[in-house]
Amino acid sequence: MRSILPTVLENEGLDGALSALVAQSPVPATLRVRAGRAPVSVETTVYFAVAEALTNVARHSGASHAMVVLTHTGDRLHARVEDDGHGGAVVRDGSGLAGIARRAEAHDGTLRVWSPAGGPTVVEVELPCGS
Ligand SMILES: Nc1ncnc2c1ncn2[C@@H]1O[C@H](COP(=O)(O)OP(=O)(O)OP(=O)(O)O)[C@@H](O)[C@H]1O
Ligand SMILES: [Mg+2]
Repeated sequence: MRSILPTVLENEGLDGALSALVAQSPVPATLRVRAGRAPVSVETTVYFAVAEALTNVARHSGASHAMVVLTHTGDRLHARVEDDGHGGAVVRDGSGLAGIARRAEAHDGTLRVWSPAGGPTVVEVELPCGS
């Protein structure tokens, strides 16, 4: 799957691009990065996943805070977006999270969503990044 590489990602790398997303989040959010660089296709997929998850936090969660954590284990890059809202996120055909899931799968990755009634919500995308 192809898409336009966001300028911020090209200029500042995933760390800087995620910082910008977190800074723009209407729901206060913090970022923790414990990962180095990954192939640009992987970084782009992670960027869009975090962007969608943070948009969802603002639109749907009722949260007062969100946290984005990027980690690297072995040859896999994990990005987790967690909010302290009321839960109820679902992956349903045709909407944003399903698009992220398809995109992750196209890179042999996965999207997981935990969002019990009452919250919290955790959205995690995991992608292989060995090239
Ligand atoms: N962080 C969240 N907290 C609570 N509910 C959520 C959260 N994220 C998503 N949801 C719920 O899950 C549904 C599906 O989310 P998804 O992103 O797939 O679609 P959408 O945001 O409604 O539409 P789109 O992303 O296509 O604009 C949302 O409509 C909302 O009800
Ligand atoms: Mg959405």
